[in-house]
Amino acid sequence: MAGGGVVVQGGAKNYEGGVTSFVLVTCLVAAMGGLLFGYDLGISGGVTSMDQFLKDFFPKVYRKQLNKGHESAYCKFDSQLLTLFTSSLYLAALVASFFASVVTRMYGRKMSMTVGGISFLIGAIINGAAVNIAMLIIGRLMLGVGVGFANQVKHICTHEKPSCILIVVPVYLSEMAPAKVRGALNIGFQMAITIGILIANLVNYGTAKISGGWGWRVSLALAAVPAILMTVGSFFLPDTPNSILERGHVDEAKKMLQKIRGTPNVDEEFQDLYDASEAAKQVHHPWTNILRGRYRPQLTMCTLIPFFQQFTGINVIMFYAPVLFKTIGFGAEASLMSAVITGVVNVVATLVSVFSVDKFGRRILFLEGGVQMFICQCLVGIMLALKFGLRGEGTLTKFDADFVLFLICAYVAAFAWSWGPLGWLVPSEVCALEIRSAGQAINVSTNMIFTFVVGQVFLSMLCHFKFGLFFFFAGFVAVMTVFVFYMVPETRNVPIEEMNRMWKAHWFWGKYIPDEAVIGSSNEIQPNKTA
Ligand code: BGC
Repeated sequence: MAGGGVVVQGGAKNYEGGVTSFVLVTCLVAAMGGLLFGYDLGISGGVTSMDQFLKDFFPKVYRKQLNKGHESAYCKFDSQLLTLFTSSLYLAALVASFFASVVTRMYGRKMSMTVGGISFLIGAIINGAAVNIAMLIIGRLMLGVGVGFANQVKHICTHEKPSCILIVVPVYLSEMAPAKVRGALNIGFQMAITIGILIANLVNYGTAKISGGWGWRVSLALAAVPAILMTVGSFFLPDTPNSILERGHVDEAKKMLQKIRGTPNVDEEFQDLYDASEAAKQVHHPWTNILRGRYRPQLTMCTLIPFFQQFTGINVIMFYAPVLFKTIGFGAEASLMSAVITGVVNVVATLVSVFSVDKFGRRILFLEGGVQMFICQCLVGIMLALKFGLRGEGTLTKFDADFVLFLICAYVAAFAWSWGPLGWLVPSEVCALEIRSAGQAINVSTNMIFTFVVGQVFLSMLCHFKFGLFFFFAGFVAVMTVFVFYMVPETRNVPIEEMNRMWKAHWFWGKYIPDEAVIGSSNEIQPNKTA
């Protein structure tokens, strides 16, 4: 789960108050959540490609990959337990996020961050000290619990101008940041995830060189560093005004806002916070609402977009790049280096999206990204078909290997400026207040479930589909690109209260939107000038 944190519309009100040290420390601590998530995402692939790790825990896989002549290259790493080490985290995160929302509601965001930090820490320790597969998996599950707590998914709407922010983490961070820098801070968080992946790639590259073969322990245990920062930080940080308000302590919330803004003049901002919190309380049945016919477009977007995002096949690369590179004959060091290269491309290309999404719109990024991913995947499939055939025997020349790496980088770049951030942004921005919590829950759960599925079955699919696997994902990319072309209208610069007009004008979705929803219905709760 990544992405999020993009200001949908400009024009936020500038309240008084600046970036106090509270805000800075908060952001640092909260960014740890993003880093940790990215780190855990990126670390397992490199570790599972390390010989000593395989020897210690998956001796069968280790023997299989040595036994070059007898085993199809495509099946070298085929093991359900090996993939469970990677994918189990997402199941745990899914389950934990339901508990996390209850804890947050009852005890506040600060408590959720503390629980998240401690879970990360326990997970890192168990993983670093693992002596059997059970410890590896339990450690990953604890990391998943950390993700569920630390990366709370929620939507905060600034009650000012049509400016709505999707936060796939620290709602905490957004609630603490003054509106004028909130967008930037959220983008910072989004970057933190891709940076976390890159750091993991770099760490694996370094630790694989440690003699004695225990480098993998260092890779897994290093997650403890940001986990400690997050846990300790969360003890010292105050709770957010929004969170205090949610629990009904109005005066306390106002005092906290004054404190974190560093000024007593917070009346206007506080009133807006208060209004938004009251409006949210009026929404009693988001789950019933979203099932109504008039929300069919939103329900479709919140389900299909995260599903499609995972079926771009991106996590094949994010989780298994080193394994994949080893499979196609790269040496151990070259495989880890190649993962570092894709990690750098991921970070840089995410920046492209950040700067272009509000300028050029979502559709163009979706469509361009889709076409680019499709071409790259087909070419990788063709290369592997030509070089390894169905039997999985063959080698790549230096030129071939460079070309495959180039194609994978071009594919990662296309994802990072399209489906990566937009897979979070678009479902969030189409959901009005009355369906927002349900829409977001559906979006995140669908994402987690299919992240788990792809993570779990990839190595086995590679073994059975062989080079065809790349055509399989290319097929999905083609379908999703056509889907975007026909079914996803441009949402750039459309305030939420005008989204219905956009759906109504759409050739397909129009029939679901009753006329009164466009002209101004009385039974619809409008989130007061929010988008
Ligand atoms: C996806 C993750 C993926 C990441 C890669 C996110 O948008 O949801 O599954 O690993 O991008 O940067």
